[in-house]
Amino acid sequence: MATVEPATGSNRDARLDALYRRLDAHDMAPYWAVSTENENDEDAQILKAGKARPYVWKYNDIEPILYEAAELITMDDSERRSVVLVNPGLAPVRATVTTLYTAYRLNDPREIMPPHRHSINAVRIGLTGASNFTGVEGEDIVFGPGDLVLTPADAWHNHGNRGDDFAVNVSVLDLPLTEVLNAASFEHRYEEDGVAKSEQTARFADDHSSRVYGQGGLLPRFVDHGRGAGRSSPMYVYRWESTRELLEKFRDHDGSPYDGIAVEYTDPTTGRSPYPTMTFFGQLLRPGERTRPQRQNASLVCFPFEGSGHSIVDGERLDWQQFDAIAVPGNSWFEHVNGSDSEDAILFVVSDEPTLSTLGFLRRFGKTDSGEVVRLV
Ligand SMILES: [Fe+2]
Repeated sequence: MATVEPATGSNRDARLDALYRRLDAHDMAPYWAVSTENENDEDAQILKAGKARPYVWKYNDIEPILYEAAELITMDDSERRSVVLVNPGLAPVRATVTTLYTAYRLNDPREIMPPHRHSINAVRIGLTGASNFTGVEGEDIVFGPGDLVLTPADAWHNHGNRGDDFAVNVSVLDLPLTEVLNAASFEHRYEEDGVAKSEQTARFADDHSSRVYGQGGLLPRFVDHGRGAGRSSPMYVYRWESTRELLEKFRDHDGSPYDGIAVEYTDPTTGRSPYPTMTFFGQLLRPGERTRPQRQNASLVCFPFEGSGHSIVDGERLDWQQFDAIAVPGNSWFEHVNGSDSEDAILFVVSDEPTLSTLGFLRRFGKTDSGEVVRLV
């Protein structure tokens, strides 16, 4: 039987170096400790792939770039004219956190882009202007600040602006997740009765979503709720007014020490998250409120809609104000602070939590007042 004699002496280092070069040349990697300074170095190696970093993008930087791009890039140059938030820890991959992609968009007055669809789930949230427009599967939705519009996987949609003023919105997509799963695809030829069309014909009343789904706890039985691919909420627009009203109702409630007063958007037909991959929260931080530190493996992108404050994410202080975007990477410790003693701060939060909980991976930890770490989920 062949035996292996442990190498000793000075030529061990030279042989190891040569072995690492051979592994590299053959597209292989070692899985053993290569550094004695690092405890569990083997695990550190397999975990050291590019990681999203805590980061804040300032709307003060984004907005002038959007207007500059609008002057330089017309609809004739490109149907798309968005500014994508690229996490410095993940670049050149266009991702804001590991699983989520964020893009800001300025729509010129009266511009409407042609319909398209994709396997990716997406949402648009109005920021400025009252006339952002998205047509989804024949429902024409005009939306303003804070309104959330769903464009689910495989649903035909077209974006634009129905008004005479400029309008800015932000979209969040589960694109990086679908890319990892080899599941991202796009279609641009929209047809009705076999004829290509540049705009969708309205097939539902403009207020279909609010009329059918706007009364919590009640559903019309004569309406088909299986819109789109049937895996997402059939309610395609959630108005900010309802979120704001519910947050206000719970202002005096203790709330959660980790999240303040947070409400979750749901699919009214199932009570589950609007998408299998993403969920959304409105989060009220009352004047002076500071959430306790928590760490979860869900990744978040948070958009302050009202007020100002700061978050501490893995020890890094990120100051924010209205319409900024904050990347809270999965597994980072974070806390939010409303910096004002008199004004509310409200965050709109996008989370990939449903993906993790469906797969049985979701974990959440919190720190108690005494600093003890407790498992929350
Ligand atoms: Fe789209």
